[in-house]
Amino acid sequence: MYEIKCVTDDMLQDAAKLFSENYGIWDPFAEQNMGAFAKQGRRVRMSPQRLKDQCIPTSARTTYVQARVNDELAGNVFATRWTYEGCNVCWITQLCVSAKYRHQGLATNLLVKLRENENDHAFGILSSHPFAIMATLRAFGHGLERVDLAIARTLASNIMNTSPVGYVRAAKLHGSLFDDKASDGTVSCADTDFFVDHAEPDTALDAILAKGIEWPFGRLPEGHEFLALVKRS
Ligand SMILES: CC(C)(COP(=O)(O)OP(=O)(O)OC[C@H]1O[C@@H](n2cnc3c(N)ncnc32)[C@H](O)[C@@H]1OP(=O)(O)O)[C@@H](O)C(=O)NCCC(=O)NCCS
Repeated sequence: MYEIKCVTDDMLQDAAKLFSENYGIWDPFAEQNMGAFAKQGRRVRMSPQRLKDQCIPTSARTTYVQARVNDELAGNVFATRWTYEGCNVCWITQLCVSAKYRHQGLATNLLVKLRENENDHAFGILSSHPFAIMATLRAFGHGLERVDLAIARTLASNIMNTSPVGYVRAAKLHGSLFDDKASDGTVSCADTDFFVDHAEPDTALDAILAKGIEWPFGRLPEGHEFLALVKRS
């Protein structure tokens, strides 16, 4: 596990490759919402430039942590840090683990490394993948079993509106946590217009439910991602 102080073009190239080969595929609504490149079933691809534009805003501090196995990039996480009314926020902008190395605690360990020697007060992530949400809750909070959604209810909107990361600022909160009238089974998610296929996250959710673990974030509509915002444990 390494924290990288300066993200080079070669590193961006490697990270974009990891994402393009491992992240996921487009869903049936992607093409009509996002354009011809997002054909159903095709891999969601990322160029180094797009990764840089999306995850490394020039107006804030970016932290990048890599996990390498025999010099191969096995997983990585990008995070952006900013301050909201005296509260130090750390937002995970991309978390990806190679399919070869999943379910071994790698994502959790990347996030634990990310919080080392930092004085963050709150951690946020938007992700369609329940395991990414669980890794965040384990590394920064007290795990899924003791999640407290109160901070998201009161602060998510304000914190996200001040984010230096464009897609976080643009995300529209959705679910009963933010709107008492929401009756579609959603609790804490946001419309991000990101139409990644939900089959893999749905399978992950089934595995969680099969273990008798309660999932407090509700259901996930297409084009949405779960939202977790937690205080430092
Ligand atoms: C989501 C992702 C990063 C998880 O990586 P990972 O290294 O497999 O995750 P970890 O092994 O650290 O596990 C994280 C949590 O998921 C749980 N989990 C992992 N595999 C599991 C399984 N097969 N069954 C049940 N729970 C599982 C772990 O138990 C852990 O939760 P816990 O601490 O509450 O027990 C990885 O699947 C990935 O890169 N997916 C594609 C990209 C993506 O969706 N990224 C998130 C968007 S930002």
